[in-house]
Amino acid sequence: MKLIIKGGRVIDPAVGKDEPADIYVRDGIICARFAEDEDTQIIDATGKLVVPGLIDMHVHLREPGYEAKETIATGTAAAARGGFTGVACMPNTDPVADNRFIIEFINKRAAEEGQVNVYPIGAITRGSRGGELAELADMRDAGAVAFSDDGRPVSDAGLMRRAMQYCKMLGVPVISHCEEQTLAAGGVMHEGYQSTILGLKGIPASAEEVMVARDIILASETGCPLHIAHVSTAGSVALIREAKKRGCPVTAEVTPHHFTLTDQAVTHYNTAAKVNPPLRGEADVQAVREGLADGTLDVIATDHAPHTYDEKNVEFDLAPFGLVGLETAVGLVWTELVHTGILTPLQAVAKLALHPARILGIDRGTLAEGSVADITVIDPLLTRQVDPEQFASKGKNTPFAGRTLQGLPVITIRSGACIYTTI
Ligand code: DOR
Repeated sequence: MKLIIKGGRVIDPAVGKDEPADIYVRDGIICARFAEDEDTQIIDATGKLVVPGLIDMHVHLREPGYEAKETIATGTAAAARGGFTGVACMPNTDPVADNRFIIEFINKRAAEEGQVNVYPIGAITRGSRGGELAELADMRDAGAVAFSDDGRPVSDAGLMRRAMQYCKMLGVPVISHCEEQTLAAGGVMHEGYQSTILGLKGIPASAEEVMVARDIILASETGCPLHIAHVSTAGSVALIREAKKRGCPVTAEVTPHHFTLTDQAVTHYNTAAKVNPPLRGEADVQAVREGLADGTLDVIATDHAPHTYDEKNVEFDLAPFGLVGLETAVGLVWTELVHTGILTPLQAVAKLALHPARILGIDRGTLAEGSVADITVIDPLLTRQVDPEQFASKGKNTPFAGRTLQGLPVITIRSGACIYTTI
């Protein structure tokens, strides 16, 4: 099993490398130069970027329980098509991933059917009901890489503090979906001018920011690594920036939809743009872009949240929150952030591969010799219109249908084997 990826621009943020080079792979491991023979597969990467396999640390794979929306097979196929070699999956399945048996089930299904590496995230509380802690250490031992009650945030501050004390001891991060329920109550979109015009109940920015502040305070006190999921407001970016300056162990992510779209996308009651946290205002989009550029926001993650056509094809108030992101993420990062000069390719790859690996403690995210050969090849000039019908995901719920993106994944390699290629 020998492979050489020739003539590409190799980007490895772990060592700050961005230069033309060839990558050599033997038996699934990146290795030193060797002489090619007739058994060697050659990939011509001229004009392409060769980067560590991308990792999406915020994905809903929906299995077990919601297989009509997505399965581990279809979700990981979507990941491969989107240039990702690994995904961390959220525990809001049915049953909730709040014990070792569900974590083991996910790992088993991923080994049987997964096209990419799957890193399960366990629930913080039993059933994500916010009442009592789940068996965190047991789940960690079974392979959970982090803990989160994503979608159903822990409102009890005492319980969150206790969870952080345990997670600090276990050496795993708490991922917080920051939403103060009494402020968000009943809201379906960002609270502002657009919600007034549309007559829809709003979710104020404070619903997120109050919880970001609380969790930063708890992380500073406990020393627990805290990762803030899908940051959407200018106030959250400011809180995280300030906390980092003080040495608080906090990291944060932003989704492609939150750095691209505003609440204008909800006009015409488009349920594909109904997402939690909601799409915010122009100043918020500007602030998350600045947060990405100055390093306040460490990670780009999709919050890939597939739903069926029937679930989304209802009145705006009744539709579930969520949109699919795996197959448009790279295109949006390159179109909106790299081609516009907000991020260098090196910074973009750090946020899509190195930082997620480091935060989750995964042995990936670099092209160093001796590393597992998880590699993504990106064509920065390739241009295509988003067509949800082409998605490998079961979910077609995207607000980006028809949008032209430039900068797309063309090859995804996992452990030295091609799992997706267009060339
Ligand atoms: O929009 C969202 N969808 N936000 C969440 O927090 C949960 C997710 C889902 O599971 O559908």
